[in-house]
Amino acid sequence: MKVLKGEDPLAIKEAGRIIREGGIVVFPTETVYGLGADAFNPQAVARVFEVKKRPYFDPLIVHIKDPKDLEEICEGVDERVKKLMDRFWPGPFTLVLPKKDRVPDIVTSGLKTVAVRMPSHPVALSLIKESQTFIAAPSANSFGKLSPTRVEHVLKDIGDKVDLILDGGPCEVGLESTILALCPKPTLLRPGGIPREEIEKIIGKVEGFPLGERPLAPGGLPKHYSPRTPLRIIREGERVPEGLKIGLLAFKEPREGPFWAVEVLSKRGDLREAASRFFEALHRLDSLGLDLILAESFPEEGLGLAIMDRLRKAEGEREA
Ligand code: TXA
Ligand code: MG
Repeated sequence: MKVLKGEDPLAIKEAGRIIREGGIVVFPTETVYGLGADAFNPQAVARVFEVKKRPYFDPLIVHIKDPKDLEEICEGVDERVKKLMDRFWPGPFTLVLPKKDRVPDIVTSGLKTVAVRMPSHPVALSLIKESQTFIAAPSANSFGKLSPTRVEHVLKDIGDKVDLILDGGPCEVGLESTILALCPKPTLLRPGGIPREEIEKIIGKVEGFPLGERPLAPGGLPKHYSPRTPLRIIREGERVPEGLKIGLLAFKEPREGPFWAVEVLSKRGDLREAASRFFEALHRLDSLGLDLILAESFPEEGLGLAIMDRLRKAEGEREA
């Protein structure tokens, strides 16, 4: 499999050409690695769904290189949208707005809206520029599995099924973008790299999370972002089961218990640092052949809301 250094201009040139010619490329963003195709080429986008084994009802995010690009694919770009773009782009923030006709149905799973994001990672931005198009990209993992924050994660999963991988090192934010719909009411579809509180400072009250019975983002299925190893969130007062190989995912410090492995996400209790290490720690625990991963609860504020969302999805449905 061909892996090239993302900072090499020749690698970007080659990746841009592959996208233009209808191929698919794994590229780094500040949140997680993406698996990209030309957003206006339905066949190329279909290959992304195939490689990820992703159901066609789950739409993709279109990545742009400049806030001005938004009006080429969306309606409803009003003052609120402009304020949000000003504040959060480039960055881990995705807007869902009414789409223009030129966005192919396969990208939006037939929805009348499209999700758009301008990433801040320099390799992602150069690639979008070089490709001379916009790039539809989900996270570069098999559907339902842990998101990749390093090239090694991609190589273990879908690496051999893509045309090129650009290596940009570890992802700085480490959790996917926050998704906000403005159609027209502001609704949080997925908590992520930009805390809800920051958005509310700009546009006031945001509806919609925690989710009700039906996921608001089609990808918000109850079981998602899952390691192969069963994962459970530790409930208050719960005893650690005996006789099992158990790994612990802890916030600030290891706790007592017969754990085979312990991952501490942030000794100084910083949620941003914890978020940036979250998927990486889960990938590590998942590679140890454990019977169970026990995860501590995180405070549901700032990036903690996004961490708890991912943990609940990793846990999936659980008997009461
Ligand atoms: O940080 C990120 O957002 C990463 C990087 C690669 O940009 N991308 C990412 O994409 O997480 P993906 O495909 O793994 O998650 C996109 C989510 C899905 O849950 C999908 O259902 C939702 O966005 N989505 C996309 N278009 C939508 C739309 N029109 N309406 C509602 N939800 C939408
Ligand atoms: Mg994903």
